[in-house]
Amino acid sequence: MDKIVIEGGQRLQGEVRISGAKNAALPILCSSILTGGRCVFHNVPVLNDVRTMGRLLARLGAEVEGERSLTISAQKLTDFVAPYDLVKTMRASVLVLGPLVARHGRARVSLPGGCAIGARPIDQHLMGLEAMGAEITLSHGYVEARAKRLVGARIVCDVPTVTGTENLLMAACLAKGLTVIENAAREPEVEELARVLVKMGARIQGAGTAIVTIEGVDELQPIEHAIIPDRIEAGTFMVAAAITRGDVLVRDCLPEHLDAVTAKLRAAGAEITAEDGGLRVRAAGPLHAVDITTQPYPGFPTDMQAQFMVLAAIADGQSVITETIFENRYMHVQELARMGAEIHVDGRTSIIRGRPALEGATVMATDLRASASLILAGLVAAGETEVLRVYHLDRGYEKLERKLASLGARVRRVHVAGEQ
Ligand code: EPU
Repeated sequence: MDKIVIEGGQRLQGEVRISGAKNAALPILCSSILTGGRCVFHNVPVLNDVRTMGRLLARLGAEVEGERSLTISAQKLTDFVAPYDLVKTMRASVLVLGPLVARHGRARVSLPGGCAIGARPIDQHLMGLEAMGAEITLSHGYVEARAKRLVGARIVCDVPTVTGTENLLMAACLAKGLTVIENAAREPEVEELARVLVKMGARIQGAGTAIVTIEGVDELQPIEHAIIPDRIEAGTFMVAAAITRGDVLVRDCLPEHLDAVTAKLRAAGAEITAEDGGLRVRAAGPLHAVDITTQPYPGFPTDMQAQFMVLAAIADGQSVITETIFENRYMHVQELARMGAEIHVDGRTSIIRGRPALEGATVMATDLRASASLILAGLVAAGETEVLRVYHLDRGYEKLERKLASLGARVRRVHVAGEQ
C-alpha cells in the first residue's frame, strides 16, 4: 500500500496537462455494449476506476485492449452479471445495466449499497428502466432487469442523477419509439456521452439540458472518439495554484466547464485568465473566505467541495460550505482538523474559520476527493504531511503527485509494506 509524503510551503509554478475525464470515460466505455463492433476511445485516463470498468466489460465477454487508447469489442457477450466484488469497489459499474438490457434483454447487477459519501440509491435508474418496460426484480442483493425490447417512455426523475441519466440515455437509444427524460442531469459528462451515442447513430436532442429526448433506433455503429478533459482534475490544480500563491497554467481543460469553480476562486482573490487552450491561475495577495453551496451542474460541483475546504481553512475570515448532494461528504473534516483547520460541522453545513497556516500531520484518505483535499492541505502545511490509503486517490487522479512535483511541490509516493 502506498502513502504520499508532502513537504509543505512550496509555491507552485509552471504548466500542467489535464487528463481525460474519469466520469465521462466510465459511461462511454459502457456505451460500447450497445454496438456490434470495435470501438476505439482516445484520451482515456489511466486510472484504477477505468481498469475496473475494463475488467467488468472483459468479464461480460468483451475484448478490451490498451490504456490511453482503448479498444473495446463487445459483439459477443457471454455473461450479463456485474458481481458484488466489482460493484462494491466502483459504484459506476451500475452503468452496464442500461446498455445490457437494451441490447441483450437482460442484466444482473449487484446493488451498490452505501458508500463513504452517502447512501446513494439507484431507485431512479430502476424507475426509468421499468417505465421503458423492463421487468425489475430484486433478490439476494442483486437487481435483475429483463425486457424483450425496451419501449420509449416519458420519465420524470425525482432528482437529477448523473449516472441515472446516463443509464437511461443509453437504454433509450435502442428502445422502440420516443423517450423523454425530464429533470435530467446536465453535467458535461452526460452531454459527452450523448455526443458519443449520436456518433454511433443515436437520435438524441437536448443533452446538457434538463429535458432530453431520444428517438430509439434499431442498432448503433462502433466509433472512434477522444474523451473530454477532466474538469475536476483541472479544478483541483486550480485550487492548488491559488492556495500556494502560485502561477500555474492548467492546460487542456475546457474553461466553460469550470465557470462555477472559476467564479469562487476569483471571489477568493485569485486571478484567472483564459490562455493558450487553458486557464492560468495566479494568486499573489491574501485569499478571502468564500461561501459555497454544492449543486448539480452548472452549480458548484460536490466533487470540488473538499478541495475548497482547504482554501477556506487558510483564507482570511469565515466561510460557510453547504453540501446538498451527498449527506455524508465531510469525511475529510476530521483529518483537516488534525492538521489544525478550524471547522465546525452542523448537518450539511460547515463553518470554516480561516487560519494563517496548517500543520503537517499523518492523515488518512477516506474517498477520492477527500484524498485530493488532504494532499492540497499538505502543500500549505508547515512541515511534513503523510497521506495514507492513497488507493482512493489512484481511482480518480492520474499521477497527481508527479504532476504536482513538476510544478515545484515537494511530494513523493512511498511504498509501505503491510496494512495502514
Ligand atoms: N440519487 C437518488 N436516486 C438515484 C440516483 C441518485 O436519490 O437513483 C441521489 C443521490 O443519492 C445523490 C443525488 O441523487 O444525493 C445525486 O447523485 P448522482 O446519481 O448524480 O451521483 P452518481 O451518478 O452516483 C456521479 C459521479 C460522482 C459525482 C456525482 C454528483 C460518476 C461515475 N460519478 O455520481 O463522482 O459526485 O455524480 O455530481 O459519474 C467522484 O468522481 O468523486 C464522484 C463521486
